[in-house]
This record gives sequence, C-alpha cells and structure tokens, in this order.
Amino acid sequence: MSDVVISARNLSKIYRDFWGRKKVRALNSLSLDVNKGEVFGLLGPNGSGKTTTVKLLLGLLFPTEGDITILGQPAADVRKNEKIGYLPEESYLYRFLNAEETLDFYGRLFNMDTATRKARSQQLIEQVGLKDAKRRQLKEYSKGMTRRIGLAQALINNPDLIILDEPTSGLDPIGSRDMKDLIVRLKSEGKTILMCSHLLADVQDVCDRIAILDKGELKVLGRVQDLLKDQGVTQVKTSKLPEAAIAEIQAIVARHGCEVLEVDHPTTNLEDLFIKTVRESAARPGQRFVTPETAKSAT
Ligand SMILES: Nc1ncnc2c1ncn2[C@@H]1O[C@H](COP(=O)(O)OP(=O)(O)O)[C@@H](O)[C@H]1O
Ligand SMILES: [Mg+2]
Repeated sequence: MSDVVISARNLSKIYRDFWGRKKVRALNSLSLDVNKGEVFGLLGPNGSGKTTTVKLLLGLLFPTEGDITILGQPAADVRKNEKIGYLPEESYLYRFLNAEETLDFYGRLFNMDTATRKARSQQLIEQVGLKDAKRRQLKEYSKGMTRRIGLAQALINNPDLIILDEPTSGLDPIGSRDMKDLIVRLKSEGKTILMCSHLLADVQDVCDRIAILDKGELKVLGRVQDLLKDQGVTQVKTSKLPEAAIAEIQAIVARHGCEVLEVDHPTTNLEDLFIKTVRESAARPGQRFVTPETAKSAT
C-alpha cells in the first residue's frame, strides 16, 4: 500500500433542503492528502466545513463533487471501516450502559471473541483514565468522561486510521493534555490520525501538518513548524544573563548590522501553570496558596 492514507480531490458538498433546493455550500473544491503515520489537523472556525469533510471521508455523506480514496479504497466502500476509528463531534453512546458494557458492545460489532473483548476493554478503559468510573452508567458521566469513553470506543478495533472530530472539546486542561498525550502515543504506535479542532493550542501541540478551512475553502496547508516559524527573527536562549553581558551582546549584534528586538524572560503558558498546580496539589494535598494579606490577618 502507498504512504497516502487519505486522498481527497476537488471535494465539494452542497447541502440541500427538503425540496432538493441548494441551501449551503459547506465545502468548495477541497484537495488534500494525509500520509501514513502523521497527525493531520483540520482547523477552522465553527461552520467552516470540518465535520462535513470528516463525514465525506468516512462515507457517511456523499460528495456533490470530487473523489476520495481512503486506505486504498473509495470512501463509499464500507469494508474500509474495519480499519478506521471515529470519534464523532457528538457521542451517540447508549446512556444506560456502563463503560465496560459499551466497549463490549462495540467489540461484538467487530466480531471480537470474548477474551479479546475483555482484555481490550480493560486496556482501553485504563488508557483513557476511566478505571474508577468503569461500572457507572454513561448518563452519569461528565462531558469530559463522555469524550474519553468515546475515544476508547473509537479505538476498540485497533484501527490504522483514527479520525477525531473535536477530540478536546469539553475537556478541562488536564483532560485535553491527556487526550493530546494519547494522540502522540497512538502516532508512536504507527497510527495515522486526522483531527478537527477549532482549539489552536491543541493543534499546535500534536499535529505534524495542518489545513485551515474557512467557509468551506482551504486557505493554508503545510507543516506546523514551517507555518509558524518566523524566518526573519533569530532566537538565542541562554541561562540568566547579567546586564553587562546583555550590553556586550547588543554591541555584537549592532556590529553585524542587526538589532536586538527584545530581551526578556520567557513566560510559561497558562496550560503548563494550571497542570503544574493541579499535579502539585495531588502530590501535597491540603496545601493552598495564601495571599500575604490574609496570612497577616490570620495571625
Ligand atoms: N445536515 C446539514 N444540512 C444543512 N447544512 C448543514 C448540515 N450540516 C452542516 N451544515 C452547514 O454546513 C456548513 C459547515 O458545517 P460543518 O461541516 O459542521 O462545520 P464545522 O465542523 O467546521 O463547524 C455550516 O454552514 C453548516 O451550517
Ligand atoms: Mg464540526
């Protein structure tokens, strides 16, 4: 098989209303390839056509125009689905089943034998962090937990290609970090992943290549690193420098006809701070931040 897992050519989708009148042009002549082993991000604002693209790729919708080959087969061929895992934007899981029963049910759909189903369910429940909640009915699950069980369900058939529609929507920062770690792990196992998101940080953290859609049209396509790298600026990172050293560096830079644009200490992002705080809280329960004023008034 070639290294191209998904190939879409001039895909267009026009949604029609009940009477067959053209209503919305959701996708306009989209062409893209997703290669084996990469994490590909489909980005765009709400309503830009991401979910439509995914549904076309899965053969859940028929394109108005264009061709799709997925795992070497046309999108309309249902046999390809055995090798695909899909996390829809909205989960359609049975609310009265618990996590174990849910995965067992989907395992049966893929004709897995009892022992394999059991082993695979337990492994996935552990992987998505639902071990403590595996006997609770899904109707009691929070949005984040629902997302986790949805992912486990998408992975039950050990798919080669995993398609995730807004995988981190509704997750708290820990949940979305877990989800991103899991995506990276799946990639390291050789899986190909296509994810849609409107959350930019998630895409930046895990995707190799991205496409940005707007109003159904492809606007940007490329490697995340290349797209984000500012070729006009050079960054040098050192341990903390004394003033004198900074002055010397500025002189050197000036001698080369260049300019020091900024000298600053880097800030970590809020996600890192949040996760560090929650992890430390788990390690040292009971400790909390007290402002100097409250500390004074308490004594
Ligand atoms: N079943 C549908 N019938 C009519 N219009 C639809 C349908 N599904 C989506 N659309 C429209 O198609 C456009 C793209 O939607 P969608 O693919 O869901 O975007 P995204 O996933 O990027 O938010 C939107 O304008 C949306 O309203
Ligand atoms: Mg969507």
